[in-house]
Amino acid sequence: MIRVTSTQRAAVFIDKGGTGKTTSAAHLGVALNQLGSSVLLIDLAGKQGDLADALGVFEDVQRDISTEDDFPNIATTMGNRWSDVAEMVGGKEAVERLVYETDSGVDLIPAHPDLDGLDADLGNIDDVQERYNRLRLFLDDHVEPLERWDVIIIDMPGLANNITYNGLWAAQNVVTPVSMGSFELKQARSLKNDLQKIRSSYDQEVQLTMVIANLYDRRTNLHSDILARFEDEFGSVMAPEYIVDSQQIRTVTEEGQSLFDVPDEELLSTAEDARDAFRRNAAELLTRLRQGSRSTPTQSQSRNRSQTRSPETQ
Ligand SMILES: Nc1ncnc2c1ncn2[C@@H]1O[C@H](COP(=O)(O)OP(=O)(O)OP(=O)(O)O)[C@@H](O)[C@H]1O
Ligand SMILES: [Mg+2]
Repeated sequence: MIRVTSTQRAAVFIDKGGTGKTTSAAHLGVALNQLGSSVLLIDLAGKQGDLADALGVFEDVQRDISTEDDFPNIATTMGNRWSDVAEMVGGKEAVERLVYETDSGVDLIPAHPDLDGLDADLGNIDDVQERYNRLRLFLDDHVEPLERWDVIIIDMPGLANNITYNGLWAAQNVVTPVSMGSFELKQARSLKNDLQKIRSSYDQEVQLTMVIANLYDRRTNLHSDILARFEDEFGSVMAPEYIVDSQQIRTVTEEGQSLFDVPDEELLSTAEDARDAFRRNAAELLTRLRQGSRSTPTQSQSRNRSQTRSPETQ
């Protein structure tokens, strides 16, 4: 049986902190929204709620948590009783209750403090396929039928835990922002190897779909050298554009916005380059996701196809 998915999914991941995962998830999401896709962002990146912060809904989310108006939440979707929750709250409405609309046009399922405990709970599930399949089943069975979103982007923690694996299983496509250093090159290489291992050991099609050079400084030769090495090694998996190091990204993020919210006349030239680069990368990401998902193999078929579908080898 071939399952044709209507929603494209990507997880923004590398097991390192501070490389721009949350920034990329937010900017790619808003860019795709502006390009005409309806976008859902999901924050698996831990209780600090960075994505809610970056999208200007941090206070709404915190208020709901502190007044215990936070059920169900993202952790509930991976608990063992989502079907019961859906029945209790009413199927469609249960999903609606997870989602916050943001001023930038994207929708968000924010992180929740219960994600911490969930990681341990998932660890108690012996069957790995079940342990890592929770988020995917939730998206397949409860989100897809709503036909509300064209693209789902998952912001991931900077480490590999049980929740991370749920994100990888659910998205199958990995977007990796990297900063420009030889250590980061090694880390991206080891991520590529890890994904290869996941494909062969767990019968999953998880693949590296896009590596984005982030925090690029045009003034240093080191960065252009490292970028050339990334391009040599990752070839067509590299995003078409690097993202420059732009102080304005930090400033707007702290204000709960993205570069797309800044009026043109207030955008500094490096930030404008970064914004345009995010837009171009977002369009390319959508193309790659669509190419990769014309048909999604069922688990029994995926093993046979795993040799032919990894973009790293194209
Ligand atoms: N291109 C850029 N130019 C300038 N600052 C950037 C850029 N990309 C990210 N940053 C800043 O770097 C910091 C880390 O970025 P971000 O939070 O996106 O990383 P992360 O990978 O999500 O980190 P964590 O692993 O902690 O979740 C933030 O302050 C962000 O504003
Ligand atoms: Mg983050």
